[in-house]
This record gives sequence, C-alpha cells and structure tokens, in this order.
Amino acid sequence: MAKGDLPFVHLMGSLGLFKIEMCGIVGYTGSKSALPILLSGLHSLEYRGYDSAGIALAGKEGLWLKRRAGRVSELEEAIGDDEIPSGVGIGHTRWATCGAPNEPNAHPHRDCSGRIAVVHNGIIENHVQLRRKLEEEGHKFRSDTDTETLAHLVENTMASGSDLAQSVRSAVSQLEGSYAIVVISATEPGRIIAARSDAPLILGLGDGENFVASDVVALIEHTRRVVILEDHHLADVTSDNVRIVDADGEEQPIREIAVTWDIAAAEKGGFEHFMLKEIHEQPAAVRETLRGRVDAAGHLTLDEMRMSEEEIRDIDKVFVVACGSSFHAGLVAKYALEHWTRLPVEIDVASEFRYRDPVLNSETLVVGISQSGETADTLAALRYAQHQKAKVISITNVVGSSITRDSDAVIYTHAGPEIGVAATKTLTTQMTALWLLALWVAQTRGTMFPDERRAVFEELARLPGLMEEVLSDDSKTFMVSERFKEARTWLFIGRGVGFPVAMEGALKLKEISYLHAEGFAAGEMKHGPIALLEDGVPVVAVASKSHVHAKLLSNIEEAKARGAVIVAVGNPGNDEVAKLADELLEVPHVTQLLSPALDVLPLQLLAYHVAKARGLDPDKPRNLAKSVTVE
Ligand code: AGP
Repeated sequence: MAKGDLPFVHLMGSLGLFKIEMCGIVGYTGSKSALPILLSGLHSLEYRGYDSAGIALAGKEGLWLKRRAGRVSELEEAIGDDEIPSGVGIGHTRWATCGAPNEPNAHPHRDCSGRIAVVHNGIIENHVQLRRKLEEEGHKFRSDTDTETLAHLVENTMASGSDLAQSVRSAVSQLEGSYAIVVISATEPGRIIAARSDAPLILGLGDGENFVASDVVALIEHTRRVVILEDHHLADVTSDNVRIVDADGEEQPIREIAVTWDIAAAEKGGFEHFMLKEIHEQPAAVRETLRGRVDAAGHLTLDEMRMSEEEIRDIDKVFVVACGSSFHAGLVAKYALEHWTRLPVEIDVASEFRYRDPVLNSETLVVGISQSGETADTLAALRYAQHQKAKVISITNVVGSSITRDSDAVIYTHAGPEIGVAATKTLTTQMTALWLLALWVAQTRGTMFPDERRAVFEELARLPGLMEEVLSDDSKTFMVSERFKEARTWLFIGRGVGFPVAMEGALKLKEISYLHAEGFAAGEMKHGPIALLEDGVPVVAVASKSHVHAKLLSNIEEAKARGAVIVAVGNPGNDEVAKLADELLEVPHVTQLLSPALDVLPLQLLAYHVAKARGLDPDKPRNLAKSVTVE
C-alpha cells in the first residue's frame, strides 16, 4: 500500500473531492461489536446537520435494522439495551433531498427480502424510471426515497446468482446522478461493498477491522490510515482485506494516506472555518442544484413543482419575499424573471410585505426564499399571501421545513447543510434555483425562444467550473483584506444585477467583521452616500461587463475623484476597469444575468479574510443566529 503524507485537504482538493456532503455514512467490519462503533460514528457526524438516522447490522440470522426520524439520541433510545452480536454494519444520518424527513424514508433501506441494506449520499436522477421498472417486476417499495431503488437493483442481480460485489457494480452501472453508497447483506455477513460517483467516500484501515465513511470525522477515533475511494471505483471490504476495482472490474492500487488532523479540523474538511469550507463547496452545490433538472433536449422539469402549467399561464404578477441574503438572491432573480417571463416582479423584505397592504389575488405568484425554511418573517409573509389567494412557491435548502408547508410548490436547493451563520453556498444555490424557476415559467408561458433558453442552460452548466476558477486562488482577496482591515466604512456599489451583489457583499462584511458597510445602486452615490467619501475609504465596485458598464465606470470615477480607493470586481482584459481600480478582483465573464454567481465569490472571501484579520470567528458572528425564528 503506497503511503502518502500529502495533507488531506490538498489531496481532497486535488481529487476534486470538495463534494456536497448531504448525508453522513459510516460502516464497520471487524471483530468488535459493530453497534457502538456505528453509533459513535453517527454522533461524530451530527455537526453537519441531519433529520433522521439509522443502523443496519448483518448477522447469521439475517439483518437487524433500527431507524428514527430526529436525533441520533432518539435512535439510541429506540435501540435501548439491545445487545446485537454483529461485527458488520452500516449507519447513516440523513439530510433529506428526496422524500420527507420521517422514519420510513430514513436510511438504511432494504430490498424485498429484507436481507440487503443500503445507505446512500447524493441524488439518483433516474430513480423514478428505475423504480417504475422494478415495481413492474414485482418489487415492493417501502419509502419515497431514491435510495431504496438501489436495494432492489442489488436484490435483482443477487437473485440471478451474482455475489454482493458484482451485484452492486451492476446496480450502480444503471444509475445516473451522484452517489456514495454502502451495502451489506445477510447472505454475505462480514462484507461491506462501497461505491461512489460524485459524492465523497473514504475507507479506514485498521488491524483486523476496516471502516467506510463519508467523512474522515467518523473514522478518526479508530484509525488515521485512510484510503480515498475515487470516482466510479468500488471497494470490497472485509475485516482483514480491502480490494478496490474500477467500473470494469480492474483491480486498483490501495493508496493509503495518513490523516494528521484533529476532530475539529476534520469536521471543517481541513479548512479553518465552516464558512471557508462552504465557500469552496459552492461549485459542487450549484452542480447538485442543477443536476437532473434539464434534459438533453433542454427541457426543464422541476419535480417539486406541484402547480399546473395552466396555473402558471394564469399568473399576471410576481412578488418575491425574503430576508437578508435570501432577499439579495431574490433581487438577483427579479432581473431574470422579468427579462425571461415578461411578468412584472415586485420584491419586498418579508418583514415589510404584509404590512404594506399589497395587491394580491389568485393570479398572483409569490416566491418565498429561505435557506432555513424557518424564518418567521418570511413564513408570516407567505401565510398572508396564501390567505389572499395568491399562489406560493418557496425556495429552500431544508426538506420538510416549515416553509414547505406554507407553499403550493417547493424547489429545493441542494447545497447540503450550511453550518456557518453567514449564507454563502445557500445564496448561490438559491440564485440557481430561482433562475431555473424563471426558465420553467418562461418555458411554460412560451416567452423565450428555445435557442435563447438553450443558450442560458449552456451558461448555467458552465457556472460550477467558472466558480472553481474564481475560488482556486484567493491570494488577491487576502491582500485586499490586509490592506483595508482597519477601514471603518466600506461602500459597495453596483448597477443592474451588480446592485444586489453589492448589497450582499456589504452584508457579508458587516455581519462577520462588524465594520460598517453599505451596499447601494451606483447611480445613488450622488444622492447622498458620496458625502461619506474621503481619502482612503474603500469603495468596492461590482464591475463585471454589463449593458450599464459605462455608467458604472463614471460612478467609479466620481468616487475616485473624492479620494476613494477602488476595489473592483471585473473581468480579465477589461482595461477600463483595470485602469480605474486600485485593487482588481478578477472573475471570468458569463452572461450578465448569471454573473452574480461569480461576482459574489470574491466578496465572500473578502469578508471572510477581513473577519479573520480582525481576530473574529466568521462561523459564529455576535448577535446573529443561523435561522431567525422570531419576528
Ligand atoms: C445571511 O448571511 C444572514 N445569515 C441572514 O441575513 C440570512 O440570510 C437571513 O436571516 C435569511 O435567512 P433564511 O434564508 O434562512 O430565511
């Protein structure tokens, strides 16, 4: 086994492993009792957020299974003092993406015989088609999840005489989407089969025992000898052996690496703070939010939409309501919604909406945006809208959250748990979901030409790669943060879709560094804010190419003439911006309406580095909560 000593985070990065971890997975095979090891592994994964948990053990008399919605402690309570003598098992903490967060949908999931158990992280895009075929063959499903399909696929192949490893390889060859799966079977106790595509999975090597997990945190108390399972590879794990094969069944080398982190570092994926980890997870989060929603013909299907096309065609006005960063995502979307659907769009901060006596009726669509799905102001606004007979669609990151119960339809972002109080990956995935919603409404109302829509889809598909490019080097934002970390006032300006990006940049900075920062439309400078300018005040200009670029350049010149120091977010090769900027944060060009997904990234990094430079904890800013459940 080749030993590597590359720091884990760099290796994870080099293998493109900054994937979205929505669920936690842990597996054990060895001479010890598996149950306590699995429970402790699930506890170590709790930091990431989840809504249910479960464990399956394989023994001579068959599979033992226990699952509960809610906390791991509730699962423990349900297990009680049961002594289950088994040395092989799998455990799972679920962050629901497909199917409500309840016990029947909790993992592990079994096949019809109840002798195969599967846990899964990721999204299986073609699970509906696979499930339909399996049900036609007589399989009986017990859950609404995409994961259960896997158990029945494995059962099918094992029934025809294949062993567990061959059956799992056959099952995953039929999947489209992202998966990290771990499978055990009562017919082959002692064996764990693990396979992955576009979702993290690692092996832990022990002495007479071996482990599988979605996250090094679940292994670190038992072993620091880790093997990263690479995409489309399958691991066959027993207590005394690990074998890895590729999709063609070709044996692969076992590349062992030593994990040098402590638990706290491991929880953050090697980053110093959750916020930085989540900033870097954004390309994967946007990729997951786009996944499976646009077919090859460019047709958009939003499976969470429970509104008929008729109802969408009857809409004659749209309101968007949200708070904080979610409001900024909504403001970004307003431009796209109006441009693509030709519907008038009003946007309100949720706390103001219902008190201004808005004109709503059954032809009104109200879009509520909330990553937590629990923000009291937003929930109250949507309840008011429903009371006024408006149709309500919500955008949220939490399956089954309160907002989903106050909506006629829901579009989930697939950002995975966001631990940092400052919204980062939930913001860019909200933008993504809102652009998909706008495109779906336009497609339904026939207000976009197919080639125009296809061009937007192509640009959307480019976003994750372009985001990775922006995030690959934050040395410049670090330098800018060092230069201005003592500035008492920051102004953020933008025009068009750059305006909400400016507001978001200001919000990020003020909420984690406690410096005064204000974002506003660049054209508003001369109507008052310009009085704030004096020598050395940093003005951050969101200056990526747009149809109002020339006007923004003159606003920058106005600020410069009054002593401001210009930090510009601009496209490479844009000499006019480069000439005016004292500091230039470059982002690649993308079609204007989608540019906020890139332009906001350096502003997130800037806020993070300034907060750190000021000795503050970016993950837990004072006075703030991750979800504001009071009005
Ligand atoms: C953003 O960084 C803040 N954490 C805050 O403004 C947040 O966006 C706002 O409270 C809305 O939260 P929600 O998306 O969960 O509704």
